[in-house]
Amino acid sequence: MVCIRQATVDDLLAMQSCNLMCLPENYQMKYYFYHILSWPQLLYVAEDYNKKIVGYVLAKMEEDAEECHGHITSLAVLRTHRKLGLATKLMTAAQQCMQEVFGAEYVSLHVRKSNRAAFHLYTETLGYRITDVEAKYYADGEDAYDMRKTLKPGKADNSFSGVDSKVDSKSDLKADSKS
Ligand SMILES: CC(C)(COP(=O)(O)OP(=O)(O)OC[C@H]1O[C@@H](n2cnc3c(N)ncnc32)[C@H](O)[C@@H]1OP(=O)(O)O)[C@@H](O)C(=O)NCCC(=O)NCCS
Repeated sequence: MVCIRQATVDDLLAMQSCNLMCLPENYQMKYYFYHILSWPQLLYVAEDYNKKIVGYVLAKMEEDAEECHGHITSLAVLRTHRKLGLATKLMTAAQQCMQEVFGAEYVSLHVRKSNRAAFHLYTETLGYRITDVEAKYYADGEDAYDMRKTLKPGKADNSFSGVDSKVDSKSDLKADSKS
């Protein structure tokens, strides 16, 4: 069983460790603290029955922008727990809070052109669209797709309906059981 819940300061080291195992884009601990101190509602973790952190989403608000919007800084799920719908649930939780707590009009993110799994997640499952291509965005010279999803005020995405959401198996993914 895997639980999706809001992250606390005690989760930050495990989130950083998950990030190091999954992605080449890594951050100093102070960047995680900056996120959780500024937008504590926008960090979520996936925790297994052993209390191990198996996935996270790290997100923030771009409050001074022309249009108030959120941004997904980082998302990852450990290999052992992929294709169970966890990334979808983590993303949906962060998006819902951006909209309901901060009034975000849209959410943006960057993804490597070659990252098929993430690109499929964003386009097919979550409804993001490419808005731009940023040449050589990544340190190794790869281009990034700049992607966006519009968040409709007052029309919250109900596929995530609480802070704690448990996933028992693939067949349970469509019906959240809340604790
Ligand atoms: C991308 C990532 C977060 C997806 O996590 P996940 O929990 O496995 O994703 P989900 O189970 O919620 O998948 C939802 C959808 O994503 C897409 N998807 C996920 N893995 C995929 C893969 N290997 N190939 C193609 N599509 C994939 C599918 O559209 C899937 O829907 P489906 O199950 O109905 O086919 C995970 O693969 C990961 O951590 N990768 C390394 C880190 C990374 O790339 N982060 C994103 C940086 S922008």
